Amino acid sequence: MKIDRDAPIGVFDSGVGGLTVAREIMRNLPSEKIVYFGDTARVPYGSKSKDTIIRYSRQIVRFLQEQQVKAIVIACNTASAFALDAVKENLDIPVIGVIEPGAVVAAAETKNKRVGVIGTIGTVGSGIHEDFLCRIDPEITVIGKACPLFVPLVEEGWLHDPVTFEVARRYLRELKEREIDTLILGCTHYPLIRSTIGEVMGEGVRLVNPAYETALELKRLLRDKDLLSTGKEQEEFPYRFYVSDLAEKFKDFANSILPYDVEMTQKIDIEKY
Ligand code: DGL
Repeated sequence: MKIDRDAPIGVFDSGVGGLTVAREIMRNLPSEKIVYFGDTARVPYGSKSKDTIIRYSRQIVRFLQEQQVKAIVIACNTASAFALDAVKENLDIPVIGVIEPGAVVAAAETKNKRVGVIGTIGTVGSGIHEDFLCRIDPEITVIGKACPLFVPLVEEGWLHDPVTFEVARRYLRELKEREIDTLILGCTHYPLIRSTIGEVMGEGVRLVNPAYETALELKRLLRDKDLLSTGKEQEEFPYRFYVSDLAEKFKDFANSILPYDVEMTQKIDIEKY
């Protein structure tokens, strides 16, 4: 199949969190068009089973295929952990998730071979970071910690708030005690409270932002496959946003974090797919 290099990139997440990944793609690949889908009707993914996440992800991929995307980024850590392999089956366009790019960088950065991972219950429970990191270097010890309260705190906009700081202090205590030197921010929302997490962990701990690393990996992948946009097809709306519920709330959040004014967000019935 011949893939159109000027087609958009499909990016999806359980809701607004994946916008941190979309933001990095916008910054690092400014000529690319994006179709973003946020599953706002069925969020959160982090507390749901693997089977459910695979079913949701397959539906979203069918929707994105209908939008004729040239590649898909699973911009959700939980969906990447549970559904990347399932989604890749029978698909003739490239698909990447956010787990591997973060794990590769963490493996390269750690000096004492003690890496922490924070994320949803689903992501941390899946053990996927440990699988990747130990495959790269069997001497690495991975210490995971689910931090479910971070997601609602970020969505509430409490990014620099004493409550968020206290929650972070409690969640991260064990990781500090176990002397990790590298910490993967393994959930889409966490880069937005990076400074709070950094303050709690201290200067000696390197924070890895998988959203940024995924954008770089996407760039390499598109270049290798000769799929980087020519930039010739200018469009009035290079970024299109779709949600499964409450488009207005999504738009407000998107406008608070994107370097781009989100004018139009369309609600679709994802169960149809
Ligand atoms: N986007 C999810 C993730 O990165 C966090 C929010 C959710 O639980 O759906 O795992």
